[in-house]
Amino acid sequence: MSVARFPHGFLWGTATAAYQIEGAVGEDGRGPSIWDAFSHAPGKTYQGHTGDVACDHYHRWPDDVRLLRELGAPAYRFSIAWPRVFPEGTGAPNEPGLTFYERLVDALLEAGITPFVTLYHWDLPQALQDRGGWSERSTAEAFARYAEVVTRRLGDRVRYWITHNEPWVVAYLGHYLGVHAPGIQDLPTAIRVSHELLVSHGLAAQAIRAASSQAVVGITLNLSPVESASDQPDDRAAAQLFDGLLNRWFLDPVFGRGYPLDVRERLAPYFDPPDTDLPTIAQPLDFLGINYYAPAFIRAVPQEQNLLGLAQLEPKALADRGYQLTDMGWPVVPEGLEHLLLRISREYAPRELFITENGAAYPDQLVAGRVQDDQRIAYLAAHFAAAYRAVRAGVPLKGYFVWSLLDNFEWAHGYSKRFGIVYVDYESLSRFPKASFSWYRDIVARNALVEG
Ligand code: FCB
Repeated sequence: MSVARFPHGFLWGTATAAYQIEGAVGEDGRGPSIWDAFSHAPGKTYQGHTGDVACDHYHRWPDDVRLLRELGAPAYRFSIAWPRVFPEGTGAPNEPGLTFYERLVDALLEAGITPFVTLYHWDLPQALQDRGGWSERSTAEAFARYAEVVTRRLGDRVRYWITHNEPWVVAYLGHYLGVHAPGIQDLPTAIRVSHELLVSHGLAAQAIRAASSQAVVGITLNLSPVESASDQPDDRAAAQLFDGLLNRWFLDPVFGRGYPLDVRERLAPYFDPPDTDLPTIAQPLDFLGINYYAPAFIRAVPQEQNLLGLAQLEPKALADRGYQLTDMGWPVVPEGLEHLLLRISREYAPRELFITENGAAYPDQLVAGRVQDDQRIAYLAAHFAAAYRAVRAGVPLKGYFVWSLLDNFEWAHGYSKRFGIVYVDYESLSRFPKASFSWYRDIVARNALVEG
């Protein structure tokens, strides 16, 4: 039997996002977001699913805080819906929106849980999209104002702030592939958006610090080790470019190095970000949040097929290579997390790191009120062990958030993919803690992973 004991004070937690769990989209003055518009547009989400009701967390949050208390994890990451606070993105704040989050934060603190607040988890007020959305500097400015108002209200109780969640996903899935809101398919727009998101991160970090002297500020990036599909030079070059687009394009400017030159040259014909914005992006970072699910396997494809000349391997190709896949078709590669943590810590030396999301979707079955999700337990155990090895090697990893507390609205996949450690019956909206919930509760209580 081996025991992997994590450092004292390690912040275990779970994570959620507003649009994925709250529902109540028309209540208490909330304005529409781009995800309301996108999910209601025909053909955009699995079977036309929307976040209208989701897990009804907006009404059932006291039950969910009770679940968190039962879990016993010392931290919880959630996001604030910008359109609840500013229904039109700008103007006067909507008091009931602020009150909702204030109550939630108070209940968490009361339960002894440290809140980690994400300011942008993809639900842009539609009114701002109507004026150009993230491709306009005015949206970055509105984001800083929103950050300031929220911090003024909650900054005496919330210390940990995450400006953005996964800006790569917002830029590329939302504005190049068009499979996420706002559903735009235009490469120059996607690159411009990636830049404006980074600028808005810098402006928001400044605003948060101006409003609260105790704020601890970070950003969450979705990072992956990138593997070439073969040893062929064209596949290798495509993998190198993808590593640049996914990882270095965001890490380098945030850590004060400007954009990576190889990627910049490649993207310049579409959009070349101005150097004058770089100091704004490079605000000191108290911590880096990493969302890790799987490595990316990249192959070269003709430019007529994809302007960037690359594609990810399909699930079938991954399965043929012997990888186990989750219900998302993502390969299960725990060592990828260890390698990623070691690389980030070596190349960027962040003060602190948090895994702000990691977890897996599996086709869970509720049988007599129970869900025996052994595959999720195995996935998490292997990834916790990988994180532990990185900690032992000196990586300043301070906490780990499992995605997700609840089964929820998985964006374009609607409710068809279950990531929760708590099962949600979408008919009755009842919650059923899965086997992984009890398993995780024991890990948290011991602050250790026991194997063997
Ligand atoms: C991440 C998102 C999160 C969730 C997981 C599965 O990209 O940040 O909201 O959808 O994937």
